[in-house]
Amino acid sequence: MSIFKYNDTDALGRVKSVDTAIVIVHVADVERLRKLQVNRLAVLQSSHPGQHLIGIIQKITRNAVEAKEIGDVEGDEGDLKLPTELNLVRITLIGTMVDKLGAESNVFLRTLETVPEIDANCFAVEGESLTNFMQVIANIASDGERLSLGHYTLDDKAEAFLNGNKFFQRHAIIVGSTGSGKSWTTARVLECMAGLPNANGIVFDIHGEYRPLKADGIRHLRIASPKDLDAKSALKDGIVHLPYWLLAYEAMVSMFVDRSDQNAPNQAMLMSRTIIEAKRDYLTKGKHDEVLNNFTIDSPIPFSIADVIARLEELDSEMIPGARSEKQGPFHGKLSRLVERLKNKQTDRRLGFLFQAPKETMEFDWLDKLVAALVAGTKDQADKLGGVKIVDFSEVPSDMLPLIISLVAKLIFSIQQWTLTENRHPIALFCDEAHLYIPERQSSSGGEAFAVDAFERIAKEGRKYGVGLVVISQRPSEVNRTVLSQCNNLVAMRLTNGDDQNVVRRLLPDSLGGFSDLLPVLDTGEALVVGDASLLPTRVRIQQPENKPNSGTVPFWDKWGEDKEVAKLSDAVASWRKQAIQASKK
Ligand SMILES: Nc1ncnc2c1ncn2[C@@H]1O[C@H](COP(=O)(O)OP(=O)(O)OP(=O)(O)O)[C@@H](O)[C@H]1O
Ligand SMILES: [Mg+2]
Repeated sequence: MSIFKYNDTDALGRVKSVDTAIVIVHVADVERLRKLQVNRLAVLQSSHPGQHLIGIIQKITRNAVEAKEIGDVEGDEGDLKLPTELNLVRITLIGTMVDKLGAESNVFLRTLETVPEIDANCFAVEGESLTNFMQVIANIASDGERLSLGHYTLDDKAEAFLNGNKFFQRHAIIVGSTGSGKSWTTARVLECMAGLPNANGIVFDIHGEYRPLKADGIRHLRIASPKDLDAKSALKDGIVHLPYWLLAYEAMVSMFVDRSDQNAPNQAMLMSRTIIEAKRDYLTKGKHDEVLNNFTIDSPIPFSIADVIARLEELDSEMIPGARSEKQGPFHGKLSRLVERLKNKQTDRRLGFLFQAPKETMEFDWLDKLVAALVAGTKDQADKLGGVKIVDFSEVPSDMLPLIISLVAKLIFSIQQWTLTENRHPIALFCDEAHLYIPERQSSSGGEAFAVDAFERIAKEGRKYGVGLVVISQRPSEVNRTVLSQCNNLVAMRLTNGDDQNVVRRLLPDSLGGFSDLLPVLDTGEALVVGDASLLPTRVRIQQPENKPNSGTVPFWDKWGEDKEVAKLSDAVASWRKQAIQASKK
């Protein structure tokens, strides 16, 4: 049985013009027009019996002057009796409701195989037919845990499900101004994931916001901070060191070589040479002959940075026999600044997670453990924690963020690439505050260019290797365009800035461009969900996550109104000096 019952007397009006996915309907009755609302649904009779075209009302106009603007009605004016009272409704078609498809009845398809005929009747979807339709949408067949964001604004009884395969396969972005609810939405998605027995995801948590998320499927990791440097063993209590030898050559160069230095090419060349030597030393000593013949400078092989520095210092002060007496070697004095930078970084406590990692990180198979912590981690593991890993980067110096996050992202991508297809377990990368490390405009220094390269690669090729990206940002206009353009799912929350709105508009399919007008008026926690993964492109009220991220919106006025002693600031000063947040001693 069809969920739509057409009663000609209920018709809104008739189709006046059709343009691929956009239909203009002429409504004769002004009373009918008054009751219509933008963003509600409409259904049109299809030329195919048993099929109904579903559309979203995008614009309602009531006079001839404006009517010209909303659609192609040229030449029609003459036929209409009341040109000054031309009531038009513009509808964007979004899919087809099929009464019977094989054995199933009432199936909604995101395709438009037919278009309505001119003069076909159009009806508003409201009341009972809306409830029925939304039930069809909400009941998409799927077993067990489902990716449910919340409820549709159109009908708060209908749950808004996403297709979890398409959401991660085709990458997604979550955008919205600060405080619009992105982190909470992310937390909601993570909680749905954590319900699955083998979910696999990694969250780049820049502010330590996701610490409160607790569930069976979630484990917490943290990049080591200065206060963790005395730890004897690595990877204990979720503390992650990322030893310098994991850095690719390009990353090393961006970190240690000042490109404006006239000796930069020499410095980069010698650094590469000495690092290769140091890696070869390591492999020879450890008798890893099978690797020895095939390694490159970028291979993840431990080496001694102290040896590298010593060798560079040697070259920097080398004297060689000349014709009469000793003379300066070819690199004499040219490497001083490089050596200086290397030494500075090596002793910088803020970078302790790179250069002062526990001894065991120099062991050949320590990488296996790191990979197990970052990439694997399903509930079958010894600790019974799940595979959604929230990695806290809050104590990584901000200028190093692009380099370090991309180091982790590349590590994951490489592992996926080097895994046999049949053994590959898909993983999703959640990039919160992505504008900070996947920027559109890169500064020449720092690892930004390097990070953008890494993420562009994942955005383009990730699908094949089972790596999905979820890009989360409050400034989409500052996020790299190539990465954004690869994202086929959009969760757009309230967005007020014009530049950012434009970026989102460009990501919307042409026919749904009108949606972008909604961006500034969305409520907190409300999102426009459009894309492959969502059956119905429309507004969704996101359900609150069980454990709220601690994005703590500070109630300024209330705080100022409290009559109690304000905390001392000397703790903050002490923490700043030590580069480690500490609670006050009472
Ligand atoms: N689904 C929701 N339902 C109700 N309230 C919400 C919802 N999502 C967010 N909020 C409210 O909005 C506040 C800010 O949300 P959130 O931290 O997710 O914003 P954000 O978009 O991540 O901001 P920022 O860009 O600054 O990180 C929350 O503290 C909460 O009070
Ligand atoms: Mg946030």
